[in-house]
Amino acid sequence: MGRTVYSLAKECIGYGSDFDIKGFIDDNLKALDGFSNYPALLGTIKDYRPQPDDVFVSSIGNTRINRLVCDSLKKRGAKFIPLIHQRAVVRSNAVIGDGSIICEFATIGADAKVGCNCLVQAYACVAHDCVVGDYVRIDTHCTCVGGVEIKDGAMIHTSAVLSHNVVVEENAVVGACSFVIRRVKAGTTVTGNPARRLNK
Ligand SMILES: CC(C)(COP(=O)(O)OP(=O)(O)OC[C@H]1O[C@@H](n2cnc3c(N)ncnc32)[C@H](O)[C@@H]1OP(=O)(O)O)[C@@H](O)C(=O)NCCC(=O)NCCS
Repeated sequence: MGRTVYSLAKECIGYGSDFDIKGFIDDNLKALDGFSNYPALLGTIKDYRPQPDDVFVSSIGNTRINRLVCDSLKKRGAKFIPLIHQRAVVRSNAVIGDGSIICEFATIGADAKVGCNCLVQAYACVAHDCVVGDYVRIDTHCTCVGGVEIKDGAMIHTSAVLSHNVVVEENAVVGACSFVIRRVKAGTTVTGNPARRLNK
């Protein structure tokens, strides 16, 4: 995912003028072995000391681990920036928080709010008036219709559809291709059409 976000960053608003790409940090120092045409791996996340002009984005897909890693970097003074692809659609008054990544052909509707350190993947739609918390992941081809609320740390997997005014609580998971018509309780996983709690 880090390699994908590197490639995406070069197509985002502000690349080359507001920010450039310095390199990766990863606790696996062999993460780029066998891959070519990428910038340097500068060191581990746990040891990295943010420099005065550094800005960060995180490509970690697991929202719980993403939060731990980003919070640890923020405590060391790291500044996160949003990455918005040039071909994403961001409608009037939509707000996108620091560290969030909005991929190509994603739509953020009018007056919607996306918090910090979220990932909205390609072709996802977060429609008008949705409120998305921090550290939320919305996978490709998901549809969040108008007024949906997704709280911190939730993961909405590929092609899920969240119906009008649904609330997905903290750290909940919505399985791929689910149609969600009711509130999803914190920390639970739902799947299917209509989506029901996975008994685990
Ligand atoms: C929801 C999900 C997280 C559950 O994973 P899990 O906890 O490992 O669940 P399991 O694979 O053990 O499946 C448990 C049961 O749920 C069912 N199930 C799993 N995912 C389902 C889905 N998306 N829709 C309907 N049923 C599903 C399985 O058939 C199984 O049913 P059974 O007990 O009757 O056999 C996972 O299936 C999923 O949707 N992952 C998303 C993948 C994805 O889109 N990734 C994005 C990459 S960018």
